[in-house]
Amino acid sequence: MVGATAADDLQTKASSLLVRNVSKVHVSADGTHVAALSDVSLSIAAGELVSLVGPSGCGKSTLLRLIAGLDAPSSGELRIGANPISGPSAERGLVFQDPNLFPWLTVRRNIESGLAARNVLREKRHDVDDFMRLVGLESFANAFPHQLSGGMAQRVALARALVNHPRVLLLDEPLGALDAFTRMRMQDEVLRLWQNRGTTMLLVTHDIDEAIYMSDRIVMMTPRPGRIERIIEINQPRPRQRNSSEFLELRGRILEMLHFAGENAQAPNR
Ligand SMILES: Nc1ncnc2c1ncn2[C@@H]1O[C@H](COP(=O)(O)OP(=O)(O)O)[C@@H](O)[C@H]1O
Ligand SMILES: [Mg+2]
Repeated sequence: MVGATAADDLQTKASSLLVRNVSKVHVSADGTHVAALSDVSLSIAAGELVSLVGPSGCGKSTLLRLIAGLDAPSSGELRIGANPISGPSAERGLVFQDPNLFPWLTVRRNIESGLAARNVLREKRHDVDDFMRLVGLESFANAFPHQLSGGMAQRVALARALVNHPRVLLLDEPLGALDAFTRMRMQDEVLRLWQNRGTTMLLVTHDIDEAIYMSDRIVMMTPRPGRIERIIEINQPRPRQRNSSEFLELRGRILEMLHFAGENAQAPNR
């Protein structure tokens, strides 16, 4: 990159992600063991945008929680840059399926919460306004979560993660509750941030169009225990045309692959 310094280089390298031979067995309260992930290996370059798709229950959220450092693997290793992931960090932002807002805080205070916890609110306050505008909620700054629609709450959760400028952003179906129009607008906003910041992103989505529109690569997982079934590179230039013949052809191919993955999954139960 023109003008990049050694420090920049170090910074971008530091946000690559490595998942190596990771398995995870969840133990439920009643003692049942659930094998959620089996021997997953995945390497994501700094600044890459990768989507994760697969049937529900295949371990996508489990994998994101491991990368976020909220949970530990049963075996295998996870690294960010050269460092093993040993717990949560502000450099890795996570937006859950469920917005998980603090019900007792206003929209503004929810978005500010991470900055306040790190004692950097004073110097970053203008960022809060920027991100509130970005997600279209500036007129709801003083509203409480119970006054918001599901889509609005999810946009607050997105702003709350983005305002910390994480180097790695983990998105667990963050646009799922949005109407089609808002969803497409937010996809473009997330892409714009990604391009401006060079954030490394891992996006879980059920929406194949979203995966093709956004990603450098799509990782398809098998039904539980989740393994990586295949990885598809999307080489189309951005901004992508959702109705182009290349887009539609790829969409058809991926849907077909997912369909067959689903059939294989059911076979052992018959
Ligand atoms: N904390 C947990 N305790 C027990 N089982 C869990 C826990 N979290 C997830 N699971 C189980 O692990 C499997 C994978 O879950 P999850 O990662 O949420 O899948 P996905 O996000 O792909 O739908 C599911 O069968 C789920 O019920
Ligand atoms: Mg999930």
